Amino acid sequence: MAKLVSSWSSGVKSIPKDYVMPPERRAGDYITVCKEIPVINLEDDRLEIVRQILKACQEFGVFQVINHGISDKMMEDMMALYDEFFNLPVEDKLGVYSEKPRKGCTLYTSGLEYAKEDLHYWKDTLKHPCHPLEEHSPSWPDKPARYKEEVARYVVEVRQMGFKILDMIGEGLGLREGYFNEVSQEHSMAINRYPPCPNPSLAMGIACHNDPNLITFLQQDHYGLQILKDGIWMGVEPIPNAFVVNLGYQFHVISNGKLKCVEHRGLLNSSVSRTSIVTFLGPNPELPTVVEPAKELVTSSNPQMFKSYRYNEFIANYLVLAYNRKSGSRNGYALDSYRL
Ligand code: OGA
Ligand code: NI
Repeated sequence: MAKLVSSWSSGVKSIPKDYVMPPERRAGDYITVCKEIPVINLEDDRLEIVRQILKACQEFGVFQVINHGISDKMMEDMMALYDEFFNLPVEDKLGVYSEKPRKGCTLYTSGLEYAKEDLHYWKDTLKHPCHPLEEHSPSWPDKPARYKEEVARYVVEVRQMGFKILDMIGEGLGLREGYFNEVSQEHSMAINRYPPCPNPSLAMGIACHNDPNLITFLQQDHYGLQILKDGIWMGVEPIPNAFVVNLGYQFHVISNGKLKCVEHRGLLNSSVSRTSIVTFLGPNPELPTVVEPAKELVTSSNPQMFKSYRYNEFIANYLVLAYNRKSGSRNGYALDSYRL
């Protein structure tokens, strides 16, 4: 528990040496905010939205949505809730804290497993499964007292928005309705907390990675999220109450390479705590769900790019690579062994 950055970092003047990244793992050069990352108004005409979403997924693998139907109040209440959660006294968070990776609700610090890391990330994370609610919400934090009720309402709404966006991507790709049902059964959340860091350019919040799932919806309060496009790191503008939507590895495979999955990372700042509330939809890693390029998208001019595989095997492989991956990055890394 003492390891949580949010519990010891307040007022420290410089970072401990096991948080100092070597130059190749630091932020380096980047474009602070890239105004070209598409911002899509979900109240526009449906056909127009479908066109914009598809274009964004082909060019960037990421876009933002506004007027998405989830109220400003709900989004602001969520941020306030997590501010309170991370500021709770240590005793109140012990029930969910773990230093070993585990499946259910877990509060942990840094990356996959603190004890096995050479260097640590300046981040604490609360993660938990979300669906079905009745099965998972009992394991969520007891404090703040309104946690379960408020988060349950958010889960329902984000899920609805998420499936609406999935439907539109399916429509843009020309896939039958419900195409993604089987590959979006797992709904989970991770809430990342990046306390202010006295040396933000030497440390890192979250290392560059591709999300292993199908699609991710991220709510953020302050700047810090960056994406890699054509070899250049670019910041994603923190638009109040927007969602950043990014595609994970499974979308790249299912679309037979037509849609991009985007490599991203999280930087730190020295003045404010940054929080991101992240919702993941993807195949259930407990089930042997098969993932493969959609037959409709395989043609003689666009031959099948990936073999079909079982998602649980992919995840096992992804984790081994993530543990071994100390530096550098390569888009499509975890997909290398599935390429045809
Ligand atoms: C993630 C992620 C980025 C952020 O949790 O997968 O990419 O800004 N987070 O917290
Ligand atoms: Ni991510």
